[in-house]
Amino acid sequence: MKTLQRTLTIVKPDAVRKNAVGDIIEQFEKNSFRILAMKMLEINKHQAEQFYAVHASRPFYHSLTEFMSSGPIVVLALEKENAIADLRELMGATNPAGAKEGTIRKKWGSSIEHNAIHGSDADDTARFELSYFFAGYELAK
Ligand code: CMP
Repeated sequence: MKTLQRTLTIVKPDAVRKNAVGDIIEQFEKNSFRILAMKMLEINKHQAEQFYAVHASRPFYHSLTEFMSSGPIVVLALEKENAIADLRELMGATNPAGAKEGTIRKKWGSSIEHNAIHGSDADDTARFELSYFFAGYELAK
């Protein structure tokens, strides 16, 4: 039986500043992700810290959360079979310098921090991240 999976993605402030939102959403649709919910918003430093709490002990935590609260972001709830792994494939490596041709980070990322897009990395983080930005009633049926 085929099982649909959900994941949370964020078009980061660098990609929004580059007017890459439309291009990135087109990639989701071309790659058969169903958009269940989508919104543009700005988060503050505290909210970015909560979202990235798993990275709290990392040396880049302060800089990452400053960056993520530096301007508008677009968050989307996406669904397809194997959504988490397929989105990570479409995004490309965390560091755009090592990302494959044709990936979103290769096209729009400029550094390991300014890497254009975030995607959940596992089922449990996807559940946390989806619920961080969306209430259940906001997701398309
Ligand atoms: P993301 O998928 O949003 O998950 C955590 C983010 O931390 C990651 O993408 C990168 O943008 C950032 N990150 C990971 N490793 C480093 C690093 N070594 N230096 C700076 N930022 C990093």
